[in-house]
Amino acid sequence: MGEPVGIALLGAGNVGAGVLRALELGADRYAARVGRPLAVRHVLVRDVARRRAGVPRRALTASLDMVLADPAVQIVVEVMGGEQPAFDYIRRCLESGRHVVTANKEVMAKHGGELLGCASAHSVRLLYEASVGGGIPIISPLSRDLLANEVTGVTAIINGTTNFMLTAMAQRGSDYADVLAEAQRLGYAEPDPTADVEGIDASYKLAILCGLAFHIDVSPGDVARTGITRLTARDFRYARELGYAIKLLASGRLVEGELVATVQPVFVAQGEPLAHVDGVLNAVQVEGDLVGRVLFEGPGAGPMPTASAVLADVLDVARDLVAGRPPAESISYRPIKVRPAAKVVSRFYLRVTVADQPGVLARIATILGKQDISIASVIQFETDADAGTAELVITTHATPGGKLASAVRQIEALPVVHEVGNVLPMVGG
Ligand code: NAP
Ligand code: HSE
Repeated sequence: MGEPVGIALLGAGNVGAGVLRALELGADRYAARVGRPLAVRHVLVRDVARRRAGVPRRALTASLDMVLADPAVQIVVEVMGGEQPAFDYIRRCLESGRHVVTANKEVMAKHGGELLGCASAHSVRLLYEASVGGGIPIISPLSRDLLANEVTGVTAIINGTTNFMLTAMAQRGSDYADVLAEAQRLGYAEPDPTADVEGIDASYKLAILCGLAFHIDVSPGDVARTGITRLTARDFRYARELGYAIKLLASGRLVEGELVATVQPVFVAQGEPLAHVDGVLNAVQVEGDLVGRVLFEGPGAGPMPTASAVLADVLDVARDLVAGRPPAESISYRPIKVRPAAKVVSRFYLRVTVADQPGVLARIATILGKQDISIASVIQFETDADAGTAELVITTHATPGGKLASAVRQIEALPVVHEVGNVLPMVGG
């Protein structure tokens, strides 16, 4: 066996430690699969003084210059996270002729096009399987195995933290604040949970998926995003009684040549496979004109599942290096127009707290009727005799979001309406 393939790791946190451990455990089989051993030559961290299991002290560095000065480094694995300095570091590695493997969804969602262009200009590869769905293979299937399809839609549960929280709310009837505290205690949610609960993390991942699926230039700003913070235990109870689950769905679709990309809580009919993806699991459903519907499901995070995706990319690059294969040209993507939310058609669920008195329902129905919105069902679920209120749950037939938003504004203005609670789209069923 010849000279080892030299690797540098940028970051040795959750994922970095998993990559190091998997490289140690699988050293022999990886060497056999590549034709040469893999050798970790540098591990870049912030705090070089801290002891880290499985990392020789001499490999630790805080200097990217030191990594780049080592001619034996051929592949750089970026598992630092965050936009900066990760973006600059990846670019510098590519410009220096190193192949890069990254798990960084934020960098790939915001700067993927530029970095892939940079990789192509320097005849190296930039791979990012771990950036979406952790251990689930999805970047490679979209780039290769589904390439013959016209992909018509991508629908996904791609944030494990929020899926854990929503599952707990559905199964145990818990409130949002309680499940957030539990997710933080178990280490799923960060002390500042904003990126997960506001759908930011999922919007980065969806932007990456839409780019690959539809061959378009997408940025996270093109994704309309609503988080899960306003959901209540009552929404879950009503969903169950209507035959639905509530999921934070990341969904991308081309409608009349325009992109509809959303991350939002959605009523998903129990007959849909995605309604049953529970806990920290992730799943991505792809619809293609040739293949029909395919579903990829598995662990969306965690050191070893993520290491599985990172190392698949590393082995792929290492095999090409050993075989002397040149990197393929990167595919260029076309610009796309984003369809305004007002034009996007859906069925909706509305929860409205009203004064429990005659004629209230008729006034709400009149407003919906004037907007040409057809009511599918109305249920008066709960009354509060002390407060003199009742809770109405209304579902509509398909209607453009703009018409519904206008009706909701008018309903909110009625003196007999105490609150319009959640207004959520419905899929399936
Ligand atoms: P993490 O535990 O916070 O680890 C980050 C590592 O990067 C630490 O070793 C840290 O050094 C180092 N680092 C951060 N900023 C640095 C800087 N400016 N200079 C030098 N070193 C720096 O993060 P993680 O959970 O492993 O996530 C890493 C990446 O993988 C992120 O892009 C994340 O989105 C992605 N990802 C994570 C998961 C998951 O399950 N966690 C799943 C899929 C994808 P110190 O150790 O000295 O602080
Ligand atoms: N915070 C992410 C999640 C994990 O909860 O799915 C890494 O992508």
